[in-house]
Amino acid sequence: MQRNKKVKYRSDRKRKGKKVALSLAVVGIILAALVAWVGWHDWDVRKSMTKLGEAIGLDDQRAGETKREDEQPEDDLHEAGGLEEGQPPEEDNDVVKDSGGYIEGMELPEEPTYVDGILIANKEYPLPSTYAPGEDPEARKAFDEMAAEATLSNFNLTAFSTYRSFDYQKELYDRYVARDGKEAADRYSARPGYSEHQTGLAFDIGEVNYEQHWASSDFGETEAGKWIAANAHRFGFIMRYPLGKEEVTGYMHESWHFRYVGTEIAKEIFEKNITLEEYVGLK
Ligand code: DAL
Ligand code: ZN
Repeated sequence: MQRNKKVKYRSDRKRKGKKVALSLAVVGIILAALVAWVGWHDWDVRKSMTKLGEAIGLDDQRAGETKREDEQPEDDLHEAGGLEEGQPPEEDNDVVKDSGGYIEGMELPEEPTYVDGILIANKEYPLPSTYAPGEDPEARKAFDEMAAEATLSNFNLTAFSTYRSFDYQKELYDRYVARDGKEAADRYSARPGYSEHQTGLAFDIGEVNYEQHWASSDFGETEAGKWIAANAHRFGFIMRYPLGKEEVTGYMHESWHFRYVGTEIAKEIFEKNITLEEYVGLK
């Protein structure tokens, strides 16, 4: 009896010893596999965990997102067009504007900005100083057609200012600043590089022989001014700086300044009574 007990005791100890050894071996194998896995993934623990998640089928979407973040360094975002030189940062909080509504410290870009194929020139999206396309021929043709139709209502329209070079805009702006002061000038005249006239798509319109109304708020009260306001969109032009939209466009109302965008877009902007900034989703 006594001997049997001892034998049983010995075999129990033997079995327990085997279990411990087996457990240690399993733990050892798992640890070795983990070390090998992490090593295989460039010793990057986060990447290894993501790959592990993928391997065992955990939440594919989240694993993919992590991969994209990890594999696209910030510099790539710039190259991919996320942020370009001369463009305002996406976060409004990072943007500090001066009293004229311009972004402080902003330099003119290397390339003009297009949103959905539409060239933008405003206080936030300037043009390169070298951008000099001249007057846009398509816009001129549309203006000539509009002027021809206006004669049927006895209006003799003229475009008294269209394309303006960077240098000419500088001359104009400096002249207005000298005359009215910077704060006032910034409400009606663009700084060089920021004028839509430099795109060749902006037309300042008035009536022949009525120079006294040119570039004056009076023009909007004239019959010709009212006719253009109601008809320009049919020819592809929009009133670029409407009344009450200074916060959006950056400029006071200009009843004479029209921007060519093509008939389809002009019609939609006119019917929705919105600005170009709102149309392209910048405001
Ligand atoms: N008058 C407009 C804002 C310009 O100077 O371009
Ligand atoms: Zn103008």
